[in-house]
Amino acid sequence: MTGFLRLQNEWTCDGTPLSGIAHTFGTPTHVYSAALLTERYRAYDAAFSDIRHRVHYAIKANATLAVVRHMRQLGAAGDANSGGELEVALRAGFSPAEVVFTGVGKTHAELERAVALDLAAINAESLGEVDRIAAIAQAQGRQARVALRINPDVDAGSHPHISTGSRITKFGVSLDDAPNMVMAMASKASLKVVGLHVHIGSQITSAEPLAKGAAVVADLARQLMANGIPLEHLDVGGGLGIEYQDSQPVLSPDAYAAALMPIVRSTGLTLLLEPGRWLVGPAGAIVTEVVDLKRRPDGKWFVIVDAGMTDLMRPALYGAFHRIEPVTPRPGEPILADIVGPVCETTDTLGVGRTVAPVEVGDLMVVRDTGAYGAVMASNYNRRPMAAEVLVESGAPRLIRRRQTVDDILQWDL
Ligand code: LLP
Repeated sequence: MTGFLRLQNEWTCDGTPLSGIAHTFGTPTHVYSAALLTERYRAYDAAFSDIRHRVHYAIKANATLAVVRHMRQLGAAGDANSGGELEVALRAGFSPAEVVFTGVGKTHAELERAVALDLAAINAESLGEVDRIAAIAQAQGRQARVALRINPDVDAGSHPHISTGSRITKFGVSLDDAPNMVMAMASKASLKVVGLHVHIGSQITSAEPLAKGAAVVADLARQLMANGIPLEHLDVGGGLGIEYQDSQPVLSPDAYAAALMPIVRSTGLTLLLEPGRWLVGPAGAIVTEVVDLKRRPDGKWFVIVDAGMTDLMRPALYGAFHRIEPVTPRPGEPILADIVGPVCETTDTLGVGRTVAPVEVGDLMVVRDTGAYGAVMASNYNRRPMAAEVLVESGAPRLIRRRQTVDDILQWDL
């Protein structure tokens, strides 16, 4: 009974009824399954057992400390994308040598901190950034471990807002510029070039673009090593998609690994991976309460729930689909409904045109697959306090982030 299942007409997490969690912790609440996090991490890691590799959990997908700690306890390393995530990684117990740091537009302060920590790698995104890292390292009397992020000009085939690997995006440096840049980096005493990095996008459901991106950096790595640059690793980023809709075709970690391993193995380098969504997405759901119902003149219903775009931005931002169901479906004719939040924005929808079991005010609903890019993208728009977060461990729900209060939000106003 791992993860989110409907048992005897009630949705549960690791066998624990969501209604009980809502009763104890209120709504809306993010609920995570520790057992499913464990299962998914192990499956992903095992898929790559035939190659020397490290799984750097992409903290951006879910940065709640207890979740990050859980990933570390399973043996993951970390991938941080900002100064904030770097501190999360350290507080979750990662040693700096287990953390890679990526991100367009790292600030001077972030780079100073990253260099001082001596991270596994700072993934540099531009020539200017390489120079800034070199200058900071020199001033600190250190040698910074740097990898160069390559933009392989590959279409990830996912939503344009979450595709990063085509040359029109802001990410990485072009393949044309990369060889000379790496040679220049290798000539600086304050830099140690440790690898190449690529990440072409997220929610990718076929192996082809991922393999293409990896092949581009593998070729470049071979060329650089032939020119005397002793690299240590190839970091192929994250991107493996999940099944948001029933029967949606997706790529399994085994199939992904089978496509990737021969490419990387031929270089002899250590493979670094940065999965986020695949590890944590299906291990989370939001429990929310129906606060109002109204019927449009055309007969369609609005089911208004207490979770909105402030708790889950993905539908509003990308038109993303998340399965939504009543926690305890009532008998009767299903209704056609838009499931919407309370925020004053027309785009504040969680699900559009859904056929769901009939609901009444006070009923609970579950929004599935929100473990990745759910709580981390929350906002206080409309001065809405952020939801509570609960981790179910061995069937016991534990509060891992308390619900904000309006006082919490107002404390920064002077
Ligand atoms: N590494 C880098 C450098 C990244 O930029 C990302 C995600 C990852 C790893 C993890 O990718 P994943 O395995 O989770 O696909 N907010 C969007 C997703 C943005 C992803 C940003 N980068 C969404 O909700 O779909």
